[in-house]
Amino acid sequence: MSATRVDSAEFVRSAYGRADFLCDGRPQVVFAGRSNVGKSSLLNRLLGRRALARVSSTPGRTRAVNYFLVNGRYYFVDLPGYGYAKASRDERREWARVVEEFLGQALPDARVVLLVDGKVGATEKDVEALRFFAERGAVVTVVATKMDRVPSGKRAAQLAAIRRALELPGDSPVIPVSAESGEGMKQLWSEVALHLEASRR
Ligand code: GTP
Ligand code: MG
Repeated sequence: MSATRVDSAEFVRSAYGRADFLCDGRPQVVFAGRSNVGKSSLLNRLLGRRALARVSSTPGRTRAVNYFLVNGRYYFVDLPGYGYAKASRDERREWARVVEEFLGQALPDARVVLLVDGKVGATEKDVEALRFFAERGAVVTVVATKMDRVPSGKRAAQLAAIRRALELPGDSPVIPVSAESGEGMKQLWSEVALHLEASRR
């Protein structure tokens, strides 16, 4: 079966801490990014399911780690968003705790897809998040979201700015995507498929 054909996708559970995290050896593709950057929307679009993960225009809604089982073989994981402007210090700590605990269990079966808003560009929070994942040994693929909102004349400059801000090495791509138009799904799927193939046992 091709890794990129989605025959089944189902919500499995919301996890808030060590006791509920899943680590059954299935590979995990983890979607991380600022609150409202479009994680849930991208996950839905990739899976071709309109409303599997909950999309909200109110930032900071997803507090838990949400697991979706795809083709019975691997998980798509929707992480809680960080960098929510109105978040209290306690809420920020809570994010770090949940994600720290999550990564402690998920690595090395996980591949992180870090979402950066294509129009806003990479913020300080995104730089911190990338560092956070890298320091913990996660392999990260960066995507620029909501590209349907970026005028075509500004695309190249926006993508280059994101790459610079995140100090990405020349050979690692920033994949432009849009959950709205479907742009970039093929390219992102092929990245994801590489990970899934590599972790096949
Ligand atoms: P949290 O769960 O709060 O962390 O947010 P999230 O990152 O899961 O974002 P979500 O997918 O809920 O989307 C946030 C808002 O952005 C919603 O209003 C979406 O409709 C909108 N949005 C998401 N993806 C796109 C996109 O590709 N293009 C456009 N124009 N809007 C998008
Ligand atoms: Mg969400």
